[in-house]
Amino acid sequence: MPLTGHARLAGVIGWPVSHSRSPLLHNHWLARHGIDGAYVPLPVAPGKLETALRGLQAAGFAGVNVTVPHKQAAAALCDTLDPAASATGSANTLVFEADGRIAGSSTDGLGFVASLRAAGIDPAAGPALLLGAGGAARSIASALLACGAAVRVANRTPERAGSLLRDQPGVTLVPWPSWPERLHDVALLVNTTSLGMAGQAKLPADLSHAPSELVVADIVYAPRETMLLAQARARGLRTVEGIGMLLHQAVPGFAAWFGVEPAVDDEVVALLAGTLVS
Ligand code: ATR
Repeated sequence: MPLTGHARLAGVIGWPVSHSRSPLLHNHWLARHGIDGAYVPLPVAPGKLETALRGLQAAGFAGVNVTVPHKQAAAALCDTLDPAASATGSANTLVFEADGRIAGSSTDGLGFVASLRAAGIDPAAGPALLLGAGGAARSIASALLACGAAVRVANRTPERAGSLLRDQPGVTLVPWPSWPERLHDVALLVNTTSLGMAGQAKLPADLSHAPSELVVADIVYAPRETMLLAQARARGLRTVEGIGMLLHQAVPGFAAWFGVEPAVDDEVVALLAGTLVS
């Protein structure tokens, strides 16, 4: 619908930002709900984040998403952070409060848990094993711990796993080379690494020790069916694709800026899937 002088505004800050699918998704939801609002791509060069945020605040924006390379810098500029943003030291969703404060959150983990629930999976059904210890692993660990799940982490570089364990008490370590043999009592296996992404190396996975109830999730969404998910399906295991997290992580921002909780349904999955390599 055409914008009026009362339109609510939000956008995504990144450098580059042209690859972002967020404008497509948010503007689809805006149109679906007949909301007087817009969501725009905002290319902001490194070093210009604070100037851009203050300007957008001054111009009446409701808030922004933040993507690479600004997520850490954004967290440092926020006045308040949610637990996941504190745990990751990064924020991907900023809300400009009426009193001038900026509230930051890291919604990847919440999005991941929402994508599990949408697939009918209880995130706290049993221990979760996360492969990787980067920002995505921290956000997902934070969300799973908040659900009451036991969380284990295996990472190629032990120091990085150690740093996650120090920052997130309650998470335990599984040595990277032995994770396949440690699946016997795991309920949820999550690849949070970039392995398996189109153009990258595949995750070497041996699922022969997997219990039959194991759920295998991947945060890689291009391709939708990674080799890990294909292996899991071939063994008859339940799988959760990364596209669910990609969509669900956008929900809290939209709800905060535009006042409506948008649905992640087949139509938006098809909309996004159409933009991905398969
Ligand atoms: P993000 O913030 O998106 O999670 P990241 O911080 O770069 O991205 O983390 C990438 C994760 O993928 C890390 O856990 C990384 O392992 P290291 O800490 O050992 O680098 C993991 N990763 C990337 N390439 C890998 C590879 N070839 N083998 C094993 N792990 C890999």
